[in-house]
Amino acid sequence: MEEFNHYSVLLQETINELHIKPNGIYCDGTLGGGGHSFQIASRLEAGRLIGFDQDRDAIAAATKRLEPVSDRVTIVKSNYENMVAKVHELGYDGVDGIVLDLGVSSYQLDDKERGFSYMQEDAPLDMRMDQESGMTAADILNTYPQEELIRILREYGEEKFAVNIAKNICSAREKEPFATAGQLNEVVRTSIPKKAQLTGGHPSKRTYQALRIELNRELAVLEDSLNGMIDLLNDGGRICIITFHSLEDRIVKNVFKKAEDPCTCPKNFPVCVCGNKSKGKVITRKPILPSEEELEVNSRSKSAKLRVFERSV
Ligand SMILES: C[S@@+](CC[C@H](N)C(=O)[O-])C[C@H]1O[C@@H](n2cnc3c(N)ncnc32)[C@H](O)[C@@H]1O
Repeated sequence: MEEFNHYSVLLQETINELHIKPNGIYCDGTLGGGGHSFQIASRLEAGRLIGFDQDRDAIAAATKRLEPVSDRVTIVKSNYENMVAKVHELGYDGVDGIVLDLGVSSYQLDDKERGFSYMQEDAPLDMRMDQESGMTAADILNTYPQEELIRILREYGEEKFAVNIAKNICSAREKEPFATAGQLNEVVRTSIPKKAQLTGGHPSKRTYQALRIELNRELAVLEDSLNGMIDLLNDGGRICIITFHSLEDRIVKNVFKKAEDPCTCPKNFPVCVCGNKSKGKVITRKPILPSEEELEVNSRSKSAKLRVFERSV
């Protein structure tokens, strides 16, 4: 395993917003290198931090990083979609704070064998966050029908040239199945007009984002887990979520808004009859963004947004 170098995004801001109580119970759904978790656990006395990651390398790295505070930490190798069940299994009814720092870690991006980066032409097209899960990005490219490829490129990559790319993927795989980043980069390059390649970063960026989101079910997991996590919070507990693209941010914003005001009565009703009760309040009307200083030292922070919700019971 390579050294786990990861700069924790919006670290101070997240810690401030969590309002950590020394005896509280906290969950980190995306341990990564343990940067956020270390800061939380360091502030605990009788409290506990329960950290989740689905990536075994991240689990190993976080275990090492959290060694000095290991008496206050429980590490679980699991998707955060299982957080509520795992927390109950560990004997807790609720928690006082939850952190999610979504997406890939710089370690995952830098490790060629994981296949998350389009920059290394001979890298395998893997992209699994959980190395024990079955399907890889190459399997998607080699087996999905053209229409499905168009859908994921459009929905998850917001790719304007989705039809062209999907068509060319389907004809390329008939000659030779996809195995490496270089093969995919070549197909994408020939599917996007030269002029359009002059702006918007690397031409494969959006295709990679789409494949990663589809393979790891990133948006579905987020959308399906958020309400359960809000319900898991004790009174006054806060959930802090850092997102890296507009698709994730939109989900967080909408779920938080609905949790604050779930009333479905027509606006002209004098009193609420639907009976849906607010779960708390949105703390961040506008997302918290990284400071100028952070942006100077970490380019990955560029698209980061932090949103916070506080539970009231
Ligand atoms: C950006 S990194 C977290 C970095 C961490 N906050 C730190 O400061 O070191 C995201 C991590 O979340 C993990 N991850 C992403 N989605 C996940 C999910 N649904 N369940 C569990 N882990 C997930 C990834 O494997 C990765 O290690």
